[in-house]
Amino acid sequence: MAEIIDGKNLAKNIRLELTAEVQELKKKGIIPKLAVIMVGEDKASKVYVKNKSKACEEIGIEYEEYILEENISMESLLELIDKLNNREDVDAILLQSPIPKHLDINLAFQKITPEKDVDGFNPINVGKLSLNQDCFVSCTPYGIIKMLDQYKIEIEGKNAVIIGRSNIVGKPLIQCLLNRNATVTICHSKTKNLKEYTKNADILIVAIGKPKYITEDMVKDNVVIIDVGINRTDNGLVGDVDFEGVSKKVSYITPVPGGVGPMTVAMLMNNVIKATKNRKLK
Ligand code: GUN
Repeated sequence: MAEIIDGKNLAKNIRLELTAEVQELKKKGIIPKLAVIMVGEDKASKVYVKNKSKACEEIGIEYEEYILEENISMESLLELIDKLNNREDVDAILLQSPIPKHLDINLAFQKITPEKDVDGFNPINVGKLSLNQDCFVSCTPYGIIKMLDQYKIEIEGKNAVIIGRSNIVGKPLIQCLLNRNATVTICHSKTKNLKEYTKNADILIVAIGKPKYITEDMVKDNVVIIDVGINRTDNGLVGDVDFEGVSKKVSYITPVPGGVGPMTVAMLMNNVIKATKNRKLK
């Protein structure tokens, strides 16, 4: 029987713990603050940013939002990041991706000071993760590891197969799983005979943005499936995995919505509080 990994409920419990932690910080006169930058009008980003601001409000984290014009120059974007880097009251900075094509997102992430880089996208944090040092781990991979741990799903020695090599999910997830002694395989759009790899997975993590792409015939019995996809279709939100078909075979599976998404936001909140404590609790 498949067990559904209830990311929504896990995330709620994490937010409750973090709320208590913020109350303790406030007794010491410390108030965490997150600044979020969004460039342009990406529809999905607006939803994600709204979820982040709601979580901040619930937990007691101060929140500032900068919505920049679509045609803003790289120089102006870097100037804003620099200003936020130097603000004593701002503990955490997040640049929502994607940003318009004329801007260099890598340069922007590099500009965010590593101490406030709660997304873990600055090369210093990326490097530290690959060396298994203390750092900000990007929120979706961090949330996935947390879910596996909460459900006591063993990672060590397992064949973990990731589909999707984005800088936001796939690549940092390789390091997270390696740091936990999984045998990690990463597949992507140019992988030949994908099924050969997915069939071998004990833990299959899918982040490709193709609705219901992973079907029953592509997985083995008792696999654990983490579905990172959020695809808006005429029939509502669906993941990258054909949930109904695949559910017959899996031991654990995350739903969409209510799986990875809420955990990503919860781990962001966790990182904001970590940044605050690192900076202000000496
Ligand atoms: N766009 C989609 N997911 C994310 C995320 O986790 N962080 C940022 N900054 N942008 C995103």
